[in-house]
Amino acid sequence: MARVALVTGGTRGIGRAIVERLTADGIKVAAGYSGNDAAAEALKRETGAMVIKGNVGNLADCKHAVEQVTAELGPIDILVNNAGITRDGVFHRMNSEQWSEVIRVNMDSLFNMTRQVIEGMREREWGRIINISSINGQKGQVGQTNYSAAKAGMIGFSKALALENAKKGVTVNVIAPGYIDTEMVQAVPAKVLEGIIAQIPVGRLGRGDEIADMVAFLAGERAGYVTGTTLSLNGGQYLVG
Ligand code: CAA
Repeated sequence: MARVALVTGGTRGIGRAIVERLTADGIKVAAGYSGNDAAAEALKRETGAMVIKGNVGNLADCKHAVEQVTAELGPIDILVNNAGITRDGVFHRMNSEQWSEVIRVNMDSLFNMTRQVIEGMREREWGRIINISSINGQKGQVGQTNYSAAKAGMIGFSKALALENAKKGVTVNVIAPGYIDTEMVQAVPAKVLEGIIAQIPVGRLGRGDEIADMVAFLAGERAGYVTGTTLSLNGGQYLVG
């Protein structure tokens, strides 16, 4: 029987590439999104994926999303916690909204979403939780104390959850992308982004489909021995940044 996956932030950027790839692999996929109805409709039309609206920073929305997906597609086997936002600014000028919005959406979402699916995965003795972190959670980035904190926190969360569920057939892993060619990265001031690309040994931004390939591997039957790890896809940037 086809597996069921839920990808948060799945209608644009890296999330959309993940949805396309998992769908192509024969998985029944639902894409979560928070605001852009047009992008969600386009994804649904083009891939046949289910789309579900809600804010991953809101516990009730997450409960509702999981209930809807379960009712329509079946119990969730694969959860990709991908939704994320930036509110960049140097810390000495950061306000509490910039801090808490990023922590809520990028980190509280791990509790809000994963808590809804973990018991079912344990009962069925099969599950894949894949958390999309960032190179900036690994090495830090000027202007991203909020984002770097959340993305680093994701790694600790995943290690602890991997330990708790290792005997239950549930793996928990992190993918830490570098700078991928998405709207989020294109929003970085052009001059700053130019400087960042100049530092990447591979000499270019990454592509969403390159991240999606790794997600597809971790989501698969053959990845049962991979748990608690962080896979870094950054064109070598971590080595020089
Ligand atoms: N080291 C230390 N301090 C630095 C610095 C550096 N490399 N670069 C700048 N600063 C300091 C400056 O000295 C300045 O401090 P003061 O003005 O108080 O003296 C302060 O930072 C602000 O500098 P600017 O006035 O030049 O810049 P700004 O305030 O307009 O913007 C910024 C600063 C928000 C950090 C901006 O440069 C920026 O957006 N940078 C990009 C951050 C980034 O890479 N974001 C990634 C987004 S994509 C993503 O997150 C996806 C992913 O996972 C990779």
